[in-house]
Amino acid sequence: MNINAETQLNLVIGNPIRHSQSPALHQRIYQALGLNAVMLASAQSDLNDLRTLIDRLNIKLIAVTLPHKTAVLAHADIHSDAVKALGAANTLINHHGIIHAHNTDVEGIRASLQHLSIAQKNILILGAGGAARAVGYSLKDCDAHLFWLNRTAQKAQLMAEQFGGEIVSDDLNGYSFDIIINTTPVGMTPNTDDTPLPGYAFQPSQTVFDLIYTPTKTRLLREAKSAGAHIINGQVMMTAQAIKQVELAYGLNIEGRFTFELHDH
Ligand code: ATR
Repeated sequence: MNINAETQLNLVIGNPIRHSQSPALHQRIYQALGLNAVMLASAQSDLNDLRTLIDRLNIKLIAVTLPHKTAVLAHADIHSDAVKALGAANTLINHHGIIHAHNTDVEGIRASLQHLSIAQKNILILGAGGAARAVGYSLKDCDAHLFWLNRTAQKAQLMAEQFGGEIVSDDLNGYSFDIIINTTPVGMTPNTDDTPLPGYAFQPSQTVFDLIYTPTKTRLLREAKSAGAHIINGQVMMTAQAIKQVELAYGLNIEGRFTFELHDH
């Protein structure tokens, strides 16, 4: 790409930020679209100067990652419905000085599941943190039966109260799930031998979606696949949420151009 005086600067902020995939992912999207933009990673310990930074550098898009997904809300003028419901944003867009907060993790989750029929299906969700909330919100109007499993049962109970469904314990005998979604970090690099469902007997009829994107195939997905189940990895969601960020920032509708990225693995 050619950087010149018109190149638009975008940022991904978090702390730590060194392992963020957003700069490389956004660059591929900008290049494919011919956008004169660049995304850089910026480690921010606090957000005090964020507004000044956006104004001075005329930043269009800020991708937001941990630990700032909630604190960033105070620095936005307008919050999307998803942001209001989840109390978390992963995207700030600067529209002529008005800062809009969005949560494109929701679109990333929906895109990851778009080829599945969800209505009336039994869906097991592992975990009860911010990512689980985004899954619950993504599925809220889908008429699915949600089952929540979490190390701390009280948090699973809160999920069931907010998004519907029931809580389950580690003993999953007697349950039949069509879709299993992992939102916990269990199995993430470097702990690639861990799985949130040790000893579970996957079925070929099942779909297993792991939000973890490093490794691309977690132990959970490896075991599901070897049992013949359909698997979806976190790279699918990662790509889809970045595409949505670019759509929001530049007023584009481009998802169809990237369908090759969204196929299941
Ligand atoms: P995020 O906001 O990214 O979803 P989080 O809030 O830390 O991350 O939530 C991670 C979820 O994974 C939590 O539900 C956590 O369980 P607790 O509620 O008991 O803390 C779950 N989790 C994290 N590490 C885990 C582990 N080693 N075993 C089982 N569950 C784990």
